[in-house]
Amino acid sequence: MKEIVFATNNAHKLQEIRAILGSRIAVRSLEEIGCHDDIPETSPTLEGNALQKARYVFERFRTPCFADDTGLEVRALGGAPGVHTARYAYPDRQDTEANTDRLLRELAQTNDRCARFRTVIAYIGADGGERLFEGVVDGHIATERRGTDGFGYDPVFAPGETGLTFAEMGVEAKNRISHRARAVQKLCAFLGSTLG
Ligand code: IMP
Repeated sequence: MKEIVFATNNAHKLQEIRAILGSRIAVRSLEEIGCHDDIPETSPTLEGNALQKARYVFERFRTPCFADDTGLEVRALGGAPGVHTARYAYPDRQDTEANTDRLLRELAQTNDRCARFRTVIAYIGADGGERLFEGVVDGHIATERRGTDGFGYDPVFAPGETGLTFAEMGVEAKNRISHRARAVQKLCAFLGSTLG
């Protein structure tokens, strides 16, 4: 069976893509290929970070691989936190509660709460060819936390017109429409079409 490395050790992300690809392609994690490095993510863009991580793996393991990067882009904040989404409150660590608090604080004085989640996946094939896949979900930032499911900014991000936050929708409904699911589906369609 064809094998591909996903430059992550995040169990949730691995499960999500394995569910879509089924038995057609074996998806390996960094741990499974013996890569224990803290892969640098120093680019000012999501595309740059995803490519940086995928290239890091390809240069060392010479195997088809892909990496992802996600950002929350808020219109009233000029696209911030964007590439800084994971470390919005503190540049040196990830603190979900503090990140959400900062977001609500920054938007306290504005009525424009439009935002989108954007995921970029960078794929490198066996021949070294690179491709990017993007998944976007538009929505808005709620005025307070609502719901208990999910992770990260889920309690304050409400997609589309439903009014419900990701944390209120339930994981299954979220995973059908999420930014990451949309990018993963594009990658899977591409991989499926190359299987022959
Ligand atoms: P990553 O690139 O997947 O690590 O995502 C960067 C940051 O974006 C994470 O640390 C989360 O705070 C946030 N994030 C990514 N995806 C989601 C999501 O589906 N819901 C809520 N927050 C998310």
